[in-house]
Amino acid sequence: MSRGRRKIAVIGAGNVGATCAFVLAQKKLGDIVMLDIYEGFAKGKALDMSQDGQVLNYDGNITGTANYEDIADSDVVVVTSGFPRQPGMSREDLIGKNAEIIKQVGEGIKQYAPNSIVIMVTNPLDLMTYHMWKVTGFPKERIIGQAGVLDSARMTHFVAKEVGCNEEDVQAMVLGGHGDTMVPLPRYTTCGGIPITQLLDEETIDAISKRTAGGGGEIVKLLERGSAFYAPGSAAAIMAESVLNDRKRLIPASAYLDGEYGLKDIFIGVPIILGANGTEKIIQLELTEEELSSLQGSANFYKSQLTDILGY
Ligand code: NAI
Ligand code: 2OP
Repeated sequence: MSRGRRKIAVIGAGNVGATCAFVLAQKKLGDIVMLDIYEGFAKGKALDMSQDGQVLNYDGNITGTANYEDIADSDVVVVTSGFPRQPGMSREDLIGKNAEIIKQVGEGIKQYAPNSIVIMVTNPLDLMTYHMWKVTGFPKERIIGQAGVLDSARMTHFVAKEVGCNEEDVQAMVLGGHGDTMVPLPRYTTCGGIPITQLLDEETIDAISKRTAGGGGEIVKLLERGSAFYAPGSAAAIMAESVLNDRKRLIPASAYLDGEYGLKDIFIGVPIILGANGTEKIIQLELTEEELSSLQGSANFYKSQLTDILGY
């Protein structure tokens, strides 16, 4: 990582990108560059956010640009550029358009921020993370997809409401792809260290798992245009923080598997330790046959799309 002030690039200054930049600014993690194809959009948001620095007591430079030279030597790049879902669309409906965008963005990152750690957000998340890995040619540890922090936060929220406890005391675990096939794990979800399987009945847990898996769609339907951004932008910022401050958070995220969980050559959601080197460790949980088969089923769904649609 470079010396002096850290530099974070956020590609895409839309809803998720700007939210992420805003959280990063408040955490005083370094200088922030927002890049968007619409230069004025990125510059305008950067100026507005900079002026908020006095109000909210943060410092550092926040700039907007459409020029990749301005992301030079970034330590972390958060990629949010791309189309969001609209009502009636699945995340997978975004593949074609967003793959083109990720190709262009990946080439820019490879040229101007070749030592960066990339946190992917663009959907369909697990496929775009793999695509970014291929386009940049970066080591697998330096490309990580954000999904599990968000999906677990959603599950946490629903669990806390049912148990009637503070969200702070809930730790949820959601693995698999960021889509309908995601795998909430009640056995590894706890309130104050107690597995929720001891606190809630099966029917309630099933309902929570189902609502978690459909959590993004629920918000798309309510918003009627675009998708969630507060929790997704914050989740990406928390991951950037774990890298920049070498916090070694143990979180679920989309990471490259090479035999773990019986899966190979795929990015999919698993628990990892995230630090200054990116994915520093993949944690292998003991899963029941049913849990493992759900995770493998989710991975196989994305594997076939990697081959059939993206040609990998
Ligand atoms: P948005 O439409 O508000 O912002 C996207 C931004 O990307 C726009 O400002 C657009 O001008 C920019 N952009 C498009 N092409 C570009 C290019 N070639 N280079 C640079 N910038 C470009 O969309 P939003 O809500 O911010 O969502 C962004 C992406 O994140 C979507 O693909 C969405 O599905 C995904 N997402 C992923 C989540 C996750 O958990 N992984 C959660 C929420 C959203
Ligand atoms: C979400 O989960 C759409 O991926 C986006 O909110």
